[in-house]
Amino acid sequence: MTNAEITGWGMATPPTVLSNHDLESLTETNDEWITSRTGIKERRISHLPTSELATVAGLRALASAGKGPVDVDLLILATCTPDTTIPSAASFVQARMGLVNAAAYDLNAACSGWIYALQQATAMIRSGLARTVLIIGAERLSRHLDFTDRGTAVLFGDGAGATVLEATEGDAGVLAITAGIDGHAAELLWVPDSGTNTAPGCGRPEGLGVRMNGREVFKRAVTMMGDASVQVVAEAGLGLDDIDLFIPHQANVRIIEATAKRLGIDSERVIVNIQSYGNTSAATIPIALAEALEQGRIRPGANLVFAAFGGGLTWGAAVVRWGARVTPCASSDVELAATTATLVDLLAPQVDFFGTGR
Ligand code: ACO
Repeated sequence: MTNAEITGWGMATPPTVLSNHDLESLTETNDEWITSRTGIKERRISHLPTSELATVAGLRALASAGKGPVDVDLLILATCTPDTTIPSAASFVQARMGLVNAAAYDLNAACSGWIYALQQATAMIRSGLARTVLIIGAERLSRHLDFTDRGTAVLFGDGAGATVLEATEGDAGVLAITAGIDGHAAELLWVPDSGTNTAPGCGRPEGLGVRMNGREVFKRAVTMMGDASVQVVAEAGLGLDDIDLFIPHQANVRIIEATAKRLGIDSERVIVNIQSYGNTSAATIPIALAEALEQGRIRPGANLVFAAFGGGLTWGAAVVRWGARVTPCASSDVELAATTATLVDLLAPQVDFFGTGR
């Protein structure tokens, strides 16, 4: 049977760092609280639109797969922070990357976006409608950081991760995958005024920041990521002992630890990089995957479990058997456009619009 194998990976994170100590001057918080409650030490703030982060991550992933832009049949860009409502951010990425043979669209499943994209890419490849699919998770959530709301302002960061999927007749690829949503709980995590609910000129600061019932989302994240992981591992015909590496969405280190504990997966088999990037929503998993490969943590034939949870409220999980190659075919020399803007420059629009919590 034709399956979808991950053959390329790449990431792009903007250079400007917002540390916990920097946040202390913007909102009523401190490094000790953020570190102990979330595991986050710093996050990145982008000077570039989402599509530019996505383009660089995508080109790096294509090089890693040994593919060119003309080889891509489909681009799925998972994002809840596109540059514009019309067109999709995927439209800009398609043009910048030169994906002349691809269809392309945005997919908004918030933090679960990469898993949703993986599911769609797998279905397209298995059905024969596509042979090479590029999926990218890219976000610029810093645009919605409201420093008067310390419960959310310390959590999010910007970045992009990309993955190439190719048709294979071998044993590697997506063994099982699930995705779900509970729209009745949508308002537990949202940006109320960010869409057409808002009349022209009526966007309010309180409506344009991320609003979240953190405790409730926390509980549901542990339950749904755990349930979805158990389900896909069983569907793949594996036991939890067969899992070599758990690569979860990076929202909170305590969510990751509680989920891994529930699955009986020890910490050596869990990827955690939230300390460096915070929650980059749809980008966390492909960034974590790219770093895991770079660090030599994935061996040929490894069984990987991915799990995510986010706005919607969405969730998803997948079991992927890795192929033979754990090093990139080639590397790309593409870089993000440089900037002379400082952290203060980049956050000035947020501070002017929302104010600070100080
Ligand atoms: N600094 C200092 N104190 C703070 C901060 C802060 N940044 N934020 C909250 N507090 C205070 C609260 O005011 C509260 O004080 P009080 O007891 O005096 O009232 C206290 O800390 C505890 O607040 P809680 O909200 O109960 O803290 P909790 O331990 O739940 O941690 C957090 C909050 C980190 C948000 C956690 O609930 C969480 O991670 N939730 C899930 C987030 C998530 O998974 N999101 C999904 C993905 S996002 C997406 O899809 C885009």
